[in-house]
Amino acid sequence: MALDHVLKWYAETIRSPYLHYGYWDEPDQVDPEAIGLADIARAQERYITRLAEVIPDSVHSILDVGCGIGGNAAFLRDRGYAVEVLSPDKYQEEVIMERFQQRLPFHRTRFEDFVPARSYDLVLESESAAYIKPKPGFAAAGRCLRPGGYLLVSDYFIIYDDQSDSPHLRGAHRLETYKREAETAGFKLLEERDVTAHILPTLKTATAFVERFIYPTSDYILYTLRRKHPRILAGLRWLGQSLWDRKQKQLQLIDSEAFLTYRRYKFFLFQLGDKPVT
Ligand SMILES: C[S@@+](CC[C@H](N)C(=O)[O-])C[C@H]1O[C@@H](n2cnc3c(N)ncnc32)[C@H](O)[C@@H]1O
Repeated sequence: MALDHVLKWYAETIRSPYLHYGYWDEPDQVDPEAIGLADIARAQERYITRLAEVIPDSVHSILDVGCGIGGNAAFLRDRGYAVEVLSPDKYQEEVIMERFQQRLPFHRTRFEDFVPARSYDLVLESESAAYIKPKPGFAAAGRCLRPGGYLLVSDYFIIYDDQSDSPHLRGAHRLETYKREAETAGFKLLEERDVTAHILPTLKTATAFVERFIYPTSDYILYTLRRKHPRILAGLRWLGQSLWDRKQKQLQLIDSEAFLTYRRYKFFLFQLGDKPVT
């Protein structure tokens, strides 16, 4: 994949330097109807703040895998870590090159294919773990880390499978399988933090936005076409129905109740043993 258009769309609309769900300290106090883009950006900064609290004191060098557009890397660099970043995405590379002017070492590759020229104290996978197959992903982390180095993962995982066609059952790893693969690859689980409650307000806000702006806007466009251009509407319906159905299904991904049924959001801190299994 040279360019992920969905991530590009998030970057260009939310206009924060982060591409993750954000973190809400007091999720019960959040009113999704009252949230604006600045609140989302603040929640995203809080997310990397909370995640960085898990980083052990002995860590100096970090490889940020699936770095997005560099928000996490900038945050960590500002706190004194020596950071390098990695992503297979051309658009993200361009944004990072422009923002950091060559001062942030960037590796454009899939993590699975990365051949490190040095070793790192910690590999960070902030919402990129779901994109990387566990076995080659843990093998790559093993190649990149010094003995006793750390792998910090934050992402959503599948906890329940009813064999339905829910989109929540795709694009994420099974939680127990992931932990088993980590152990097989020589990683010890030091910490597991369930932060599901703290990311849900972002989904609720996205749902409120779709219900408030997207549905009424599409109703209005349909109404106008029906009145003024019925032939165009018929043609579009014929062309676009299956696309529309697919997009409707994807909207289930922002349904917080469905998320709670199928997924959990976790912070995992793993430590590589002295003798990694290859
Ligand atoms: C949801 S974004 C998260 C970005 C960033 N870590 C953050 O927290 O803002 C997922 C990231 O994983 C990257 N990615 C996708 N497949 C990858 C792979 N095979 N190896 C490394 N990164 C990958 C995407 O390009 C993107 O940078």
